[in-house]
Amino acid sequence: MDRIYLCLAHMSGKEQQYIQEAFDTNWVVPLGPNVNAFEEDLAAFANHREGAETLQKKVVALSAGTAAIHLGLIMLGVEKGDEVICQSFTFAASANPVVYQGATPVFVDSEPGTYNMDPQLLEEAIKNRIAKTGKKPKAIIPVYLYGMPARIDEIMEVARRYEIPVLEDAAEGFGSRYRGQVCGTFGDYGVMSFNGNKMITTSGGGALICPDDEAKKRVMFYATQAREPFPYYQHEKIGYNYRMSNICAGIGRGQMTVAEEHIRHHQWVHEQYVKLLGDMDEIVVHSAPEGYMEPNYWLSTIRFERGKKTIDEGLLPLITRLSDANIETRPLWKPMHVQPVYKDAPAYTNGVSERLFSCGLCLPSGPYVKEAEIHYIVEKIKEFL
Ligand SMILES: Cc1ncc(COP(=O)(O)O)c(C=O)c1O
Repeated sequence: MDRIYLCLAHMSGKEQQYIQEAFDTNWVVPLGPNVNAFEEDLAAFANHREGAETLQKKVVALSAGTAAIHLGLIMLGVEKGDEVICQSFTFAASANPVVYQGATPVFVDSEPGTYNMDPQLLEEAIKNRIAKTGKKPKAIIPVYLYGMPARIDEIMEVARRYEIPVLEDAAEGFGSRYRGQVCGTFGDYGVMSFNGNKMITTSGGGALICPDDEAKKRVMFYATQAREPFPYYQHEKIGYNYRMSNICAGIGRGQMTVAEEHIRHHQWVHEQYVKLLGDMDEIVVHSAPEGYMEPNYWLSTIRFERGKKTIDEGLLPLITRLSDANIETRPLWKPMHVQPVYKDAPAYTNGVSERLFSCGLCLPSGPYVKEAEIHYIVEKIKEFL
């Protein structure tokens, strides 16, 4: 059997047509018809709500999800000396742009149902930062880890009460829905990623969901070197080269034709894992804790309820055994507050993310994972146990 990967890129077949158009018209630059059309497709996708009025958000296509987080922070006025609250249980790209701005990330742990930011701990952190520094945190970054919706209503309620803007990191949550609304559209700004391993890909790329046209224009300004409207190059702000190429956007347009199909496939893979592993006492397949949450299940994850306490003793031998059987797996993300690079950052913890890191595993979940592969993976896990 060929190696089974966590989530490989999967093409619709239409991508090359859009790339060809770009070549035929010589739009081989970081702007052009594919970029505009991809942004329209993304906005239509993000703005759709089940049983409610369509949203009016705007989308800017960028070179990476990380660039989107960075520009989101700039739009929220995050500067040197500020603090930004960030979910600790995440990939480093959620937090690193805070440091690019010379600000300090303040990490908040997760709650056990969603694995995402704990709204109560968030409030404690805000109160404590105000008491300690005399200043409110400048922004809040909740994350939709593995595609699971965060408790966004509760997070937004706290954020509004303290009047702190929210930048949602939906890099892993493309197309996940909460009460019928797409994740990434609840806060002030929302982040999408189209890295090669995500729900849809542009090889590398990302996007920022903006509240309105004015904000979109401003984001585009910063993403194209902050060029002022003069006949010569005039700069009054520091800008970045963060726009998406018209070639990559062509891939994105092709991918949008299969986005819903990809989401349904990931959800189906998750259902199979629940069916095959759900009756085992020692394994919990991470599933939506509330009926109004509709995860994209970008990666299906399991955690072991019993067994060895540390990742070295418990998980790593299993990962090695599965790798020998041609199955790629990965431990759940190591929380930011225990990463050496963030050892001095303030953190509000409750043990949830550290425990998940010690006992949780990501399983193959992408478009190439079919029924026979799932049975094989489950068989190998059971054999090991
Ligand atoms: C949670 C999270 N945030 C941000 C990113 C950054 O996205 P990108 O790789 O497109 O820069 C990723 C993925 O890489 C991610 O998983």
